[in-house]
Amino acid sequence: MNFNVAVIKGDGIGPEIVDQAVRVLDAAAEKSGHEFTYKQILMGGASIDAYGKPLTEETLETARNSDAVLMGSIGGNTTTSPWYRLPAELRPEAGLLALRKGLGLFANIRPAYLYEELKKACPLRDEIIGDGFDMVIMRELTGGLYFGERSTEVVDGIRVAKDSLTYNENEIRRIAVKAFDIARKRKKHVISVDKANVLDSSRLWRQVVEEVAKDYEDVTYEHMLVDNCAMQLVNDPKQFDVILTENMFGDILSDEASMITGSIGMLSSASLAEGKFGLYEPSHGSAPDIAGKDIANPIATILSAAMMLRYSFDLDAEADMIEMAVKKVLKDGYRTVDIMSDGMVQVGTKAMGDLIIERI
Ligand code: NAD
Ligand code: IPM
Ligand code: MN
Repeated sequence: MNFNVAVIKGDGIGPEIVDQAVRVLDAAAEKSGHEFTYKQILMGGASIDAYGKPLTEETLETARNSDAVLMGSIGGNTTTSPWYRLPAELRPEAGLLALRKGLGLFANIRPAYLYEELKKACPLRDEIIGDGFDMVIMRELTGGLYFGERSTEVVDGIRVAKDSLTYNENEIRRIAVKAFDIARKRKKHVISVDKANVLDSSRLWRQVVEEVAKDYEDVTYEHMLVDNCAMQLVNDPKQFDVILTENMFGDILSDEASMITGSIGMLSSASLAEGKFGLYEPSHGSAPDIAGKDIANPIATILSAAMMLRYSFDLDAEADMIEMAVKKVLKDGYRTVDIMSDGMVQVGTKAMGDLIIERI
């Protein structure tokens, strides 16, 4: 079969890591007889430089008409890049948010799994790691603080900035359903994370999660406050199967979870709409501090490409092929610098791509 993939290479390390993911996809396609046709589109900083805005209507249309989107990361150094002297709505991140909203990508899945081979790269003590952990963060992606009303104004001579956090019950219900569905295929346990001791939006979140849970008697669930969750992730990560949470909590908790898998360079992500359409990108950013040096870890992006095969194209065998090749590379002792440990062989971005392709 032929699948049309819109590709956003992005900024910083984006092009380096996406190139490796595309090579890996082509290797998997060659093995399986499927074909991927790529259409390059610009979003974020690269689009600002080319068109004066981070997302054009044409780009959104091309993305919408593809079978799935593969993306690197966008953005620059937020203190020094000229992109951050533009008005907020013209900055790179505004393009990403408009793309997520425009494509209806409300469900962001970020799996945080400790490979046996990466135990030495995990900063936690051996007795906490035990025989490893395997969780999925289900982050709501098109609501909450990111999409609420904002303003900056001067009131009575002082500067005031406002961001508002709104959820309606339908937005909560559809992400909760996704989380319980995924839990059903895993260890059947959902931890819903909120700040219900303070926020009305979290109190509604709890109510709706409890309503949804009634349809999943085979899945156990509990509520956890977000500050406690941040602590529990490093105290006892094994307790988590599926974490269900709102947009901003999910952003922060997923970066924390990434680090206990060894590096943020390992954390893949799928952003799904209703149906089969999705956008696949690593959870990390454009890492401007290491861009252009051929040292970035491409594995998060490669594993995101595998998620694209699984969730959007139903190519489970090909997704397995890629995931097994990644595991084999780690088992054979190859590491990018971010996951390097004693006795391992350090390789660059492209070499890591080559090594994974050899094992497909
Ligand atoms: P970042 O994730 O880009 O980098 C944080 C740290 O992790 C840096 O030290 C970086 O070198 C390291 N790192 C990240 N990815 C890595 C990889 N694959 N291999 C090895 N090391 C890696 O976060 P930041 O520095 O806070 O943000 C930089 C820019 O990226 C900002 O403009 C931000 O808005 C943007 N951003 C974009 C996305 C996205 O496109 N989805 C996600 C997060 C941040
Ligand atoms: C992520 C990023 C984005 C987010 C930024 C760049 C808008 O941090 O994908 O995790 O906060 O969602
Ligand atoms: Mn983030």
